[in-house]
Amino acid sequence: MLNRLRSIRLSLRFIAPLTVTLAVLAYALVPLVDNLTLRWWTNDLDMRARLIANTMQDQLADLVGQESWSRINALFNRALQDERLYAVAYCTPAGELAYATSTYPVSLGCSRPLSSEGQTRAAVRLAHGLVHVSQQPVALADGNVGTLTLVHDMSFVERRSADTRYYLILFFVVLGIVISLVTVLIAQMSWRGWVAGMRAMLRGEGIVQPFARVEDPDMQPLVSDLRALLHQVDTARRPRPQEGAWNPEMLRGVLREHFRGDQIVLLSNREPYLHVREETGSIAVRRPASGLVTAMEPIMRACSGTWVAHGSASADRDVVDQNDHVRVPPDHPSYTLRRVWLSREEEDGYYYGFANEGLWPLCHLAHVRPVFRSDDWAQYRAVNQRFADAVCAEARTEDPVVLIQDYHFALAPRLIAEQLPRATVITFWHIPWPNSEAFGICPWRDEILHGMLGSSILGFHTRFHRQNFIDTVDRYLEARIEHETSIVSYRGSITRVEHYPISVQWPSEWAPSQLDVAACRARVLRAEGMRPDMLLGLGVDRMDYTKGILERFGAIERLLEMHPEFIGQFVFVQIASPTRSSLDEYRHFEQRVRALAERVNGRFGKPGYAPIHLKTTHHVPEQINEYYRAADVCVVTSLHDGMNLVAKEFVAARDDDHGVLVLSQFTGAARELHDALLVNPYHTEQCAEALHRALTMPPDEQRVRMHSMRRLVAEFNIYWWAGAMLLDAARVRQRQRVSERIDLQRRIAGVA
Ligand code: F6P
Repeated sequence: MLNRLRSIRLSLRFIAPLTVTLAVLAYALVPLVDNLTLRWWTNDLDMRARLIANTMQDQLADLVGQESWSRINALFNRALQDERLYAVAYCTPAGELAYATSTYPVSLGCSRPLSSEGQTRAAVRLAHGLVHVSQQPVALADGNVGTLTLVHDMSFVERRSADTRYYLILFFVVLGIVISLVTVLIAQMSWRGWVAGMRAMLRGEGIVQPFARVEDPDMQPLVSDLRALLHQVDTARRPRPQEGAWNPEMLRGVLREHFRGDQIVLLSNREPYLHVREETGSIAVRRPASGLVTAMEPIMRACSGTWVAHGSASADRDVVDQNDHVRVPPDHPSYTLRRVWLSREEEDGYYYGFANEGLWPLCHLAHVRPVFRSDDWAQYRAVNQRFADAVCAEARTEDPVVLIQDYHFALAPRLIAEQLPRATVITFWHIPWPNSEAFGICPWRDEILHGMLGSSILGFHTRFHRQNFIDTVDRYLEARIEHETSIVSYRGSITRVEHYPISVQWPSEWAPSQLDVAACRARVLRAEGMRPDMLLGLGVDRMDYTKGILERFGAIERLLEMHPEFIGQFVFVQIASPTRSSLDEYRHFEQRVRALAERVNGRFGKPGYAPIHLKTTHHVPEQINEYYRAADVCVVTSLHDGMNLVAKEFVAARDDDHGVLVLSQFTGAARELHDALLVNPYHTEQCAEALHRALTMPPDEQRVRMHSMRRLVAEFNIYWWAGAMLLDAARVRQRQRVSERIDLQRRIAGVA
């Protein structure tokens, strides 16, 4: 109804000016037509008068010569039989009225002199109406010239003029009505088209379902602008970060408000808690060294739900119920962990093989060659299906929010969407995405892209990696891409590809219970056998070749070469938790790291002093937090990293506003933490210089830099990250619902 009113209003906007224009045109045309008609009839009557005069002239001249008035009368009366001829008169050469029919208006007399051609004609208005007076010369036998005056009645001209005026106005009225009807019809059709087009566009559908107007190339700029505008509006509606504003309660609020508290199911390979059988036989609970787990765990604590992950630890099976569920965190259970068991072959093929020997080096520019094997791919596909089935089995409703994490599950989004088409699937890719050419070497690149595009939202840490992904899709798939809004349509599914820089919990999980910085420092220095006046550098990583640990040690070696005053004064603690150690690449890497640490320690160490303390055992997060608080400088030299949460954890730990962060420019974190000392890890001297600068940085400069980084991490914390993705997902979900309702209405209305 509202739409109809709108379209009528739109039509009126055309009709009103049209009516006015037509009225003005009619007003101007009527006198013009009158004039033309009059002139046309005057000419016609002139001609007739001349004809009559020519016919009568000779006879009249004779009769005048004979002064035969009765025959002149008969002649004139015969002439008057012409229905238009109203009166006839004859004037003598002296200008006296010699004879006239009884109808001749006396007022006309004989006063009109003949023109130079001997004739006069005019339209004259008399009391009874308009007449045409024509005076024609009559050559007499005596050589004089009398005048024959013929008066034609012109009242019919006026009558016809009135008729013409009437028909002209009628014509304009009909024209106006016809144009208006056509306009209204076209406006109605266009409006409906526009509304349908806009609806399709809002649902992101116009780009897949050929809709004539939206597909019209002339419309494309407008469509693009509108989509860009919508994207801007969406982005602007993202939660505005304010210090301390984003917290678990706000996140729960988003779920309540936008998802009616719908269930959250999270899928990752790594589980948040490992139950490990100790040598004593008791079961210990461990938190894995995983940035992914660090980021997602606070979200799950805030939102409850179910976390589906690989049960990989030695005592995992011993603590689950018959549904493979265990409530976690163990001390304050707030969500459910659903464990999925994998056989040795499955784990080898899917996790070690395809994920970590194939995709991991493929996506990280660390110059390690990816290995792709068909058997690994088969396992990867099968395991993705198993996890997708597990997620669907955990879903209590047909439309849960499913959060899929990382490169282990590139196929799961599509597999889940096929089983739960109403689910909102949010996939986050925690590692970099290479350029399209580099990605192209993966033999199953199309299948991977196809799987990922089953997501409603697909997130990367940085704009750059998001763009790389879009370029890859553009290059290898027949997909429609809306570049302004980063929406990809592929085989009926619509995916919004965005960048959401991941972050850490704020305030840090340990903030309420942690010791102050001085106490942490004292404990750590004691544990490391350092004097209180010594400087402490820190690296915290998994023992992974992408982390730039060799480059870091190389920089430390160079620092001690260039600034020997630090020998004996500076210790670098490298916590390198074991990871993927059944892979040759990782084992060799660890050997190289150990060898380099030994070399540096051999060169610069002395009894009671080793510049590098390499700690390759698992450290619990509380311990690591203590190291963060104790360190003078934290060094992150990844060769390539999606984000690197160590950098943000270090910043979050430093509530004293001290400590310096040396950060690789090839991390996602470097795009946000501009107050870190940014380095190129491949440039040994530059890194050594940065280390020197960090170790000698005045406290005031440290405070300014750290304060600024802390503000950023506080504002863009992990709750903000999850909130931004959930709000975007809520919009996608809303559009899906609208789209479903429209499709339903169409089906009811019998529209295909
Ligand atoms: O960086 C990718 C990633 O999956 C992280 O999310 C996580 O910190 C790390 O790798 C853990 O790797 P894994 O689960 O193989 O030990």
